[in-house]
This record gives sequence, structure tokens and C-alpha cells, in this order.
Amino acid sequence: GIVVSSLLGTTGKVTLDPGFTNTASCESGITYIDGGEGILRYRGYPIDQLAENSTFLEVAYLLIHGELPSADELDAFVTRVNRHTLVHEDFRTFMGTFPRNAHPMAVMASAINALSTFYPESLDPFDDETVELASVLLLAKTRTITSYVHRRSIGEPLLYPDYSRGYVDDFLRMSFAQPYMPYEADPIVVDALDTLLILHADHEQNCSTSTVRMVGSAHANLYASVAAGINALSGPLHGGANEAVLSMLTELKKSGDDVDTYMTRVKNKEAGVRLMGFGHRVYKNYDPRAAIVKKKAYAVLDALGARDELLDIALRLEEIALNDEYFIERKLYPNVDFYTGLIYKAMGFSPAMFTPLFALGRMPGWIAQWREMMKDPSTKIGRPRQVYTGATERSYVPVGNR
Ligand code: ACO
Repeated sequence: GIVVSSLLGTTGKVTLDPGFTNTASCESGITYIDGGEGILRYRGYPIDQLAENSTFLEVAYLLIHGELPSADELDAFVTRVNRHTLVHEDFRTFMGTFPRNAHPMAVMASAINALSTFYPESLDPFDDETVELASVLLLAKTRTITSYVHRRSIGEPLLYPDYSRGYVDDFLRMSFAQPYMPYEADPIVVDALDTLLILHADHEQNCSTSTVRMVGSAHANLYASVAAGINALSGPLHGGANEAVLSMLTELKKSGDDVDTYMTRVKNKEAGVRLMGFGHRVYKNYDPRAAIVKKKAYAVLDALGARDELLDIALRLEEIALNDEYFIERKLYPNVDFYTGLIYKAMGFSPAMFTPLFALGRMPGWIAQWREMMKDPSTKIGRPRQVYTGATERSYVPVGNR
């Protein structure tokens, strides 16, 4: 950051740090990232161990409560989340009022925000039991909302949750089953989606999480704070990148443009042409999540017998990038979004659903970060300073004299 003199006069100096590249906004004990080494840990546990051995709801518990649950604690937590997956009948009606072709992220942000109107008993940000209830409601309802958004976008009727199934298993059933028809998801697909949700579950002070904290710092309730985070996530430089990657790959396939020509356009910095799914503010090494996602992409495509030419294009782009001076110099590696879209596509989700799936996964992180902030006695309302560059004082001129 550059320390510059403030023109405001109330503070001697302020630090100008566009994009907060060098400014910590808080202390946090949730997620550790070493971007140079490509290390990611939740509450001290390496991401690859959690991806391999844990489940999404167990990781949610870990992020929110700080420790892995005992078997009884996990059982109670899972049962409680499952019991809340049904939404109010009026909420279903409300979900039906959005245009069919609305972007799922816009519907999702509105739906999460609207939860506060249906559960007014869960709004007090300083009562522990209330906050726990809001957390459980968010984990439970977001799953239902995400499957509803998907089904509405394809004109299918909404399905009720089945409490006897696992979180991810039932999410897939609610997304893809025909009404009254048996449905069994492939266990490899269930496992892959569970892993993807774990990989997205937290990433310390990224754009959407910082947004959640900023809104929460004004003591806005958890739903309002998280809804703001979802809106931040919708941007193509953040969560929207997974959708942008698939558009890029599809465009390359359709246009028949060869991959090398595309890379030249990227390196020439043609307006709007970036290698989507590459680069990261913090990782200056291979994103450890991307390595796991890549393996899962192979597993899912194999299991579903779905050869996808787009995977070949992605692999080719990666190979070129990893050996190209432009990318090496700038330490640009695939990020988590580079391969996720290919998996979601193989599962049957449309590209517009990719970012809502990211939001479903990120929910535990937003909740944990918001809760940590609310408990931290050093928390103050977020209120950055600025360096004013506008006009100095001048006198008002009546409209007729301008
Ligand atoms: N393709 C080509 N060049 C790139 C890319 C890319 N994907 N990413 C960065 N660069 C170049 C920039 O042009 C810049 O070059 P310069 O030094 O010659 O000016 C240099 O690398 C540094 O890039 P910045 O944009 O300054 O890096 P920043 O940290 O601000 O941005 C970001 C990080 C937004 C992720 C960026 O790498 C990007 O736009 N990537 C593509 C979008 C994407 O995949 N986003 C997902 C991020 S992960 C997530 O949200 C889960």
C-alpha cells in the first residue's frame, strides 16, 4: 500500500490500497492460505485431506464451530439440517414469480434475502441459539433453493426434499429426478459434487466474503449479509468465472479457432480476452483445489461415459499456459474454476447454474466468517477512507448562468 496524505484533514495519513492487495481487514482463525506454496487449510486441516475423507456438512460444522464434530454431534447437525430442508409453501409460490429465464444468481440472491421475511425469529445477530438456527436454516434452504432455481429454469416441477437421503444425494435427486419416478445418482457423481462443495466452502477474505463481513459489520442480519455476498459472487471475475470458462471453451470449439491463436489474443491483452479460470489474487502457484477438481473431472466423465471435447481444449490451454513465458512470469495457474464447469456440465447443469453451485458450497464459509466477526470484540463497522481527487471548494452557479 502507498501511504498518502489525506486531503480530508480529519486523519493525518491514510493508506491507498486499491483492491486491498496488501491490507488485512480482520484477524481470522478459519482458513489459512499460503498462495506462494499453494497451501489451503480449513481450521488447520489440509484441503486435500478434507476433500478425500470428509463430507460437506462435516466441513460446514468444522468451519462454523472450529472443530471436527464427534459422531453424535455430526449426526445431530445433519439431522437438524435435513429437517429444515423443506421451504414454506408461500416461499415456493414466491420462487415461482421470477421470470423463467432470469439469471439463477439473481433469483438466488433474492431468495436468500427473502428468507429473513419468512423466519423473523432467526434474525438477532447476538443471540447464540438464534444465530445457530439461522445458520442451519441457510445450509438447509439454500440446497432447496438451488435445486428449485435449476428446475424452474428448465420448466420442471419442483420436488420436495427426502429427509432420509444425504445432503448431496438428495440435492441431485431434487435437481434431476422426474416426479414420482425412482432416482439414484451415481455414487461417483455424488462424491464428486460433495468434494466440489468442500473445495468451495471457504477461502478467507475473498470479494464475496469481505462483502458479507462488510454488510454484517453494520449489524445487518445473516440473510441480508449472505445475500450481498451472493451478489458479489455473481461477478465474472469472482464466482462467475466458472460459467465464463465454459463459454470460452464452447466458443473455441464452435468457432474452430485454434487454441494457439486464442492464446495470442490473450497475451496481446485484446480487450475482454483473458484466459478465464486462470490467475488468482492470492495463489501464485497451482491452486490446490484445481488439482483435485481436475482429477474429479476425469472420474465423473468416465463414470458417465461422457467424453467431452471441451476437456481436451481445456487440457490443451493449460498445457500451453504452463509452458508460456507470459503465464510463467505472471505466475498464472489454473484456479478452482478452470475445471469445475466441465463437471457440472457432465452432471446435467446448465452453465447459468454453475455459480449458484459455487454459492451453495461457499455458504458455510460466509456463515462462519460472519459469526466470527460478530463474536470479535475488536469488530467495528467497515468504513474505508478515500483519497479525494475532485474539485476544491467552488461556489454554486444558478442554472441560468451556466
Ligand atoms: N489471462 C491473461 N492474463 C491475466 C489473467 C488471465 N486470466 N489473469 C491475470 N492476468 C495478467 C494481467 O493482465 C496482469 O498483467 P500485467 O502485469 O501485464 O498488467 C497480471 O496478469 C496480473 O493480473 P491482475 O489482473 O492485476 O491480477 P489480480 O490479482 O487483480 O486479478 C484475477 C486476479 C481477477 C483472478 C485475474 O487473474 C483474472 O481476471 N482471472 C480470470 C478470471 C477468473 O478466473 N476468476 C476466478 C478467480 S478465482 C475465484 O473467484 C474463485
